[in-house]
Amino acid sequence: MAKIFITGGNGQLGRACKRFFSKNHQVVTTDIQEMDITNSDSILKAIGDFKPDYIVNCAAYTAVDRAESETELAHRLNVIGPSKLAAAAVLFRARLIHISTDYVFDGNRQFPFPWTEEDTPNPQTVYGRTKLDGENAVINTYGCDGIVLRTAWLYSPTGHNFLKTMLRLASSSPADKIHKIVNDQFGCPTSASELAKQILYIIESPNYLDRGVYHAVCSGCTSWYHFATRFLELMNIDTTNFKPCTTEEFPTPAKRPRNSVLAVDKLSSKNMYVMVDWETALKNYVIEHGQTVYKDVLASL
Ligand SMILES: NC(=O)c1ccc[n+]([C@@H]2O[C@H](COP(=O)([O-])OP(=O)(O)OC[C@H]3O[C@@H](n4cnc5c(N)ncnc54)[C@H](OP(=O)(O)O)[C@@H]3O)[C@@H](O)[C@H]2O)c1
Repeated sequence: MAKIFITGGNGQLGRACKRFFSKNHQVVTTDIQEMDITNSDSILKAIGDFKPDYIVNCAAYTAVDRAESETELAHRLNVIGPSKLAAAAVLFRARLIHISTDYVFDGNRQFPFPWTEEDTPNPQTVYGRTKLDGENAVINTYGCDGIVLRTAWLYSPTGHNFLKTMLRLASSSPADKIHKIVNDQFGCPTSASELAKQILYIIESPNYLDRGVYHAVCSGCTSWYHFATRFLELMNIDTTNFKPCTTEEFPTPAKRPRNSVLAVDKLSSKNMYVMVDWETALKNYVIEHGQTVYKDVLASL
């Protein structure tokens, strides 16, 4: 049984990790109310009290568009926070598992060729830049046994995510309103449950990973439009009003990568669990959480 300390425990991934890890391990879950990852005293107290074997950092600034105008806050959460956690991991001899993003890449690679860990990141947004700086803070902290898992297009039954936005659009009025969904950006939708399973597998593996960066996403890839319509079909919701559009037709404050498909060969070459393909994970999500999520969305309208 390992002692696992989860930060950002109220977020999408944090909740999934808590659910999976608690079955066989001793787990402490914190969010900003219990431990602010940007506050050294708070970290030293919480981690020093528990003395974990593993720290899984699920806390982050994740509002991609808002980060363009909240640069300072994004930097504090995505760079200073991980750097302080890395220092605490060294001090208390814990392994650190830190989560990053596909948005560290510029996306300018022809689809469907994926990005590997050997490729040079070139983030185009404040969010992507701060996440890359956070990766480097973990990897470059002397003595830190840290790994970085880059994931993408995360969804779960709780919190804000793309699937819930699609349900909201499908349920909004007027019923004949057309919804344009971007069909020329490609990535790897990843269920938070699958990622939590992946992290647990890494923790429980007798051959723990060498420090460094690893890609950790559901296999396969798709566009936002196909992701949305496949989800709605699985939910038995009519997709007639959902139409594909180009990136130019749907401008956002933060520029999204056109192709942020990630290759997972490095993890699989280490004999690690490789997550199921995105469509299987989506089906499982709909079976397990579809009705609850739909009710939550309807109640919020
Ligand atoms: N969501 C995606 O599509 C996506 C894609 C690629 C990579 N990722 C990465 O995956 C990881 C998990 O993402 P997620 O979607 O689970 O994020 P999330 O749902 O936004 O959860 C992040 C959690 O961190 C908490 N937090 C904020 N500031 C904090 C602080 N100073 N100290 C402690 N906790 C704090 C947040 O609390 P509040 O809600 O109160 O702020 C929230 O509960 C992140 O590293 C993210 O960058 C996410």
